[in-house]
Amino acid sequence: MIMSLILGIESSCDESAAALVSCDRTILAHKLAGQEAEHAPFGGVVPEIAARAHAEILTPLIEAALAEAGKSLDDVDAIAATAGPGLIGGVMVGLVTGKALAMAADKPLIAVNHLEGHALSPRLANPDLNFPYHLLLVSGGHCQILRVEAVGQYRRLATTIDDAAGEAFDKTAKILGLGYPGGPKVEQLAKRGDPTAVPLPRPLIRSKEPHFSFAGLKSAVVRAYQTGQYRTEDIAASFQQATVDCLKDRLVKSIVETEPVSDLVVAGGVAANGPIRAMLEQVAEEHDMRFTAPPLWLCTDNAAMIAWAGAERFAAGLIDDLNFVARPRWPLDPSAEKARGAGIKA
Ligand code: KG4
Ligand code: ZN
Repeated sequence: MIMSLILGIESSCDESAAALVSCDRTILAHKLAGQEAEHAPFGGVVPEIAARAHAEILTPLIEAALAEAGKSLDDVDAIAATAGPGLIGGVMVGLVTGKALAMAADKPLIAVNHLEGHALSPRLANPDLNFPYHLLLVSGGHCQILRVEAVGQYRRLATTIDDAAGEAFDKTAKILGLGYPGGPKVEQLAKRGDPTAVPLPRPLIRSKEPHFSFAGLKSAVVRAYQTGQYRTEDIAASFQQATVDCLKDRLVKSIVETEPVSDLVVAGGVAANGPIRAMLEQVAEEHDMRFTAPPLWLCTDNAAMIAWAGAERFAAGLIDDLNFVARPRWPLDPSAEKARGAGIKA
């Protein structure tokens, strides 16, 4: 078997990253630069600042990844760059960088959907994870349940009609004055709180529709905080419990209503959350499924997952034109119906 080597580039949000991954799942190098310090004063990611930061750091990261692996562009078989969905300025920086390298080195370009990177990342960590599998994709920008059927074939079973789960964690952190990024801070604070102390809603729970909603939960957190009656650790713990309950209810519904598969998989930054992982392990056990989660560094945004999605696409003969246009919105399942009330989420 020819051991193809893929260079992956990620720049869709606030992490700039470059990785070299081979099709036998060896990660030869991974270089990542976060932008937390740049965005922290604003309490969230500022798109213009993100794009400028990617433009400054991506090329040095790519050079460092090649140097660490002891490889040159000539050794690379294809260049995979995130081409959406995400903040358009950053996506364009990464995609154009990928195109320029592909053109200069005369290598094929693979335009990777960032969500496909998350969706396939568990297969980079687990060689025995086969298609099809049931996936909960929970990140700052997305909250979806997908049936991953094959490379490039994704059936969307549920999505959020408003905020993503990670967004709800980030907003709760902001309300409670914990800073950005909020997910890990809310989880830490919640450890000292009582998850039953604050009555909070569980939007759409037991609804016939398959989808998620977190906007009402966030508003309830604001109201609870404004009463001044509750300790912040109790609000954090109660919010986290409500999120776990919503994710569980929708996930179980999707599992029992779809043809059985043997694997339940989680991906995306929110998969770092301990209580959410514990709930997923329990759901898997109750439904006779094996539970797989990528290591934490592979759950949050990174370039190894983009290189790996590139490797999977390259092996399937899926390469792209150099005139591929960046897509700020790019649903993984284009045939999925728009969820009622859904905003611009993919
Ligand atoms: O996948 P990711 O790195 O970026 C996106 O593509 O969105 O996910 C980042 C999200 C943020 O909203 C962050 O607050 C959340 O994942 N997150 C967590 C935890 N760690 C990261 N949420 C809850 N608990 C955590 N421990
Ligand atoms: Zn992501």
